[in-house]
Amino acid sequence: MTTIPPLDELFERRIAYPDFSLHERLARLVGLDEQKVRLTKILSLLVNPASLEEWSRKHHSGADQLLNIVLRRPPLVVLAGDVGSGKTELAETIGDAVARQEKIDITLFPLSLSARGQGRVGEMTQLLSAAFEHTVAEATKLKSTSGKARGAVMLLVDEADALAQSRESAQMHHEDRAGVNAFIRGVDRLGDGRLPAVVIMCTNRLGALDPAVKRRAADILTFNRPNDVQRRAVLGAMFEQLGFSRKQIDALVATTGPQKSQEHGFTFSDLTQRLLPAIVLDAYPSGPVDPQRALDIAEGMRPTPPFEEKSA
Ligand SMILES: Nc1ncnc2c1ncn2[C@@H]1O[C@H](COP(=O)(O)OP(=O)(O)OP(=O)(O)O)[C@@H](O)[C@H]1O
Ligand SMILES: [Mg+2]
Repeated sequence: MTTIPPLDELFERRIAYPDFSLHERLARLVGLDEQKVRLTKILSLLVNPASLEEWSRKHHSGADQLLNIVLRRPPLVVLAGDVGSGKTELAETIGDAVARQEKIDITLFPLSLSARGQGRVGEMTQLLSAAFEHTVAEATKLKSTSGKARGAVMLLVDEADALAQSRESAQMHHEDRAGVNAFIRGVDRLGDGRLPAVVIMCTNRLGALDPAVKRRAADILTFNRPNDVQRRAVLGAMFEQLGFSRKQIDALVATTGPQKSQEHGFTFSDLTQRLLPAIVLDAYPSGPVDPQRALDIAEGMRPTPPFEEKSA
């Protein structure tokens, strides 16, 4: 009844690591050092368990039971948090750090559940099942019977808000539940097969994350709006190049933060994708960027409202 769409139709693109331009994109993400370190570590273990076995042989030989517990964790990492906070960007670029560290080739298959899968009933479940089918097939090719895998696969399930909904929620449509189940089955299949594969899920709705998904996650990383230091890191680098003084940058950092009149400051993407272009295009083509004018533009701009958890 169901036909599995071919790989190239299911995923708009595939991303291969290591890759220099992805390396640069990863480096451009500021203020996410903790997330980068944690994610690299956990993904490295999941895609290449042989490295942990090696570590154990060297430092704790005989600790098989412990090792098994760590290695048997389901290969799932959840990135959750506010809009425009770098989840997708980090998910798409972190593979470069992992590939370099483990010295293996990694391929990422990105699947966005918001762009697709909201049409026909059953489409999301079918999409997910097909995505896992392909991920299993690709990872099986790369699995080696002994030692290090020949490569690894990452499946990115992006914009997975629909899947985050609790299975316990009474309002959850039968079809959504089927989607969650397909997702959980897929993750378990990769884990049980000990395949060199890992799933990254991105969602805005941490509060509504399905308990069965939450329980499986090897790690849940949360993302927030940038604080003063993080906004300074984004804005400072850009505006120094335009010749702004320290004081002028300080003013921009303050204006884009929480105010009396608005509780929330700018998101990372408000800064990079709205404010910076607005300032540049305002000055272009007639003259240079004027610091006071830049501040006025920032003051006049409203940050993206935070993602509200719909109460289930
Ligand atoms: N930490 C960061 N440092 C620098 N730029 C960032 C950072 N986070 C996000 N950005 C900028 O914002 C853009 C949007 O980020 P991204 O698409 O990763 O957000 P997201 O968390 O996936 O949001 P959503 O929940 O809306 O999907 C990025 O392309 C990047 O330009
Ligand atoms: Mg995103």
